Amino acid sequence: MIVQICVGSSCHLKGSHAIVELMKNAVEDHGLEDEVVLAGCFCTGQCTREGVTILVDEEPISGVTVDTFDEIFKKNILERLKG
Ligand code: FES
Repeated sequence: MIVQICVGSSCHLKGSHAIVELMKNAVEDHGLEDEVVLAGCFCTGQCTREGVTILVDEEPISGVTVDTFDEIFKKNILERLKG
């Protein structure tokens, strides 16, 4: 699975850096280093919404914030890897 975190200017302002850190930690905590490849990406054109946009295997997920991170990680990354 490839997870890209948008570091475009809008997402950068909304906290990409914090999301990158949360993502790295979550991947490590779940021992997913061999399964998840983390990368940055530029603006995906989804930046009008709140929060940061990430791409999970090319699928954009918007609205990632420090508050929504856990939920989004669980639903879009953990559950997909299991399924
Ligand atoms: S800057 Fe991130 S989606 Fe546009």
